Amino acid sequence: MARLPSPSRPFTLGFLIVVVTTRVPEPGGGASVRQARRTDLVSIDRIEQASFPQPWPYSAFESYLGEPGFLVADGPTDGEVVGYVVADTIPNNGTPLGHVKDIAVADGHRRRGIGTTLLDRSLTVLSETGAPTVKLEVRASNERAISLYEGFGFEHRRTVPGYYGNDDDAFVMVAPLD
Ligand SMILES: CC(C)(COP(=O)(O)OP(=O)(O)OC[C@H]1O[C@@H](n2cnc3c(N)ncnc32)[C@H](O)[C@@H]1OP(=O)(O)O)[C@@H](O)C(=O)NCCC(=O)NCCS
Repeated sequence: MARLPSPSRPFTLGFLIVVVTTRVPEPGGGASVRQARRTDLVSIDRIEQASFPQPWPYSAFESYLGEPGFLVADGPTDGEVVGYVVADTIPNNGTPLGHVKDIAVADGHRRRGIGTTLLDRSLTVLSETGAPTVKLEVRASNERAISLYEGFGFEHRRTVPGYYGNDDDAFVMVAPLD
């Protein structure tokens, strides 16, 4: 997950990767993915608070409403929101750079392919913007998320010491977009 924007520490990545191995995702546990709406924010906030030691505030999600890469997954049964992803593009030396900022799946719905489906759909949205590359930050200790990202061809590019505070480092991972 990206730390919330800090003007003093912008990321600029000045390279491209030309080889990609992208997993073809299975349907995500019967979940359907759509763009996030205001009425989803309470559910999103609940999942966020339960998923991260330093969760985004409600207002951060509110600010991404309308962003094509802010997506939610509705569960297979009662249509509750069971996961979300926030992705957008940021300027990078005149070329847009995709940025996956946040992704989480509700605890009881994990390991059913929903994270895979959300990430896949967000990368499609980013690809349609013409961005050649996508990056993300992930806690260096978050092995399950790193495994998810590696399945989509993300590679570790650098480590940012103390990105999440104290000794909690971030891996910056990068992948090409089709
Ligand atoms: C990371 C997260 C979004 C994955 O969502 P998910 O719906 O469980 O993921 P999927 O079922 O699509 O699994 C995709 C891959 O992720 C990896 N993965 C997911 N859960 C895992 C686990 N418990 N242990 C190891 N690998 C795991 C595996 O590579 C898995 O592929 P596989 O099932 O073929 O082995 C979810 O665990 C989550 O919300 N975690 C808390 C929030 C978080 O850490 N977000 C990432 C911020 S950078």
